[in-house]
Amino acid sequence: MLEVIHISDTHFGPDRCHKIRGANACDRAIALVEEINRLPFVPDFIVHTGDVVNDPDESAYELAEEVLSGLPAPVYYATGNHDDVPMMRNALTFGDFDLLVPESDDQLCYRMGGSASPWEFFVLDGKVPPEEGPHGFLTENQTAAVLDSVSGDKPVAIFLHYPLTPIGSKWIDKHLLVTNGPDFQSALSEKAGTNLRGIFSGHLHRGLQIYRDGVLQSGVSSPACEFTAGPDDEGCDFLAGGPIPFHHISFSEDATMVKTYSIPFSRTA
Ligand SMILES: [Fe+2]
Repeated sequence: MLEVIHISDTHFGPDRCHKIRGANACDRAIALVEEINRLPFVPDFIVHTGDVVNDPDESAYELAEEVLSGLPAPVYYATGNHDDVPMMRNALTFGDFDLLVPESDDQLCYRMGGSASPWEFFVLDGKVPPEEGPHGFLTENQTAAVLDSVSGDKPVAIFLHYPLTPIGSKWIDKHLLVTNGPDFQSALSEKAGTNLRGIFSGHLHRGLQIYRDGVLQSGVSSPACEFTAGPDDEGCDFLAGGPIPFHHISFSEDATMVKTYSIPFSRTA
């Protein structure tokens, strides 16, 4: 059994006073770390699927490292649309991994734990230039490297910032997905078969569990604020000050189990 904690979208600012829609991002990330430390088990590792900071800024990443280094297991980070790869690599402490594309490409694409791991778990980087918008795109060098690394006889999971396929919300489906996500999912399914255990993402600032084309898509919300986009909405509003979300994912030999946590926020508790 492999026990993983999935978190996302902490949106740290350059100091402890930074607020997202009225909610203090640092205080809420500290509460997230405290709640994970209160669990009655120690996870094998933790994955943060991006938007570690709100704006790429060295002091924001230093603050993020100060807080997130309090997590009880190695942390793996994916690049969000608000992140900067060189700053992340400089400031944040990662678990062991094998890079799959050169870091000089300004992309963070790797296999967690390296080639000796009994699991084929990958982090991909879907970030596009900010002027293109908040959607993602997977470059061919990444998709080819991941597909080449899939043996077909080990459990496979993908962690990235952006969901790969539509979720049933007009605004989200139009603006926030990986534009070539369905193509990649289909190629990955073909290569990994029933060993494909799931696609795990953030970015939407809301919890998400979908089973599409035989593949689990699981997204975790943001401790900073939630998006409210409904099925027919052309935009979204924000809910700040809600509970603190994280997911506990258990990978056993024959199952993938996602337990959703939603903890009331109280820094004085
Ligand atoms: Fe975000």
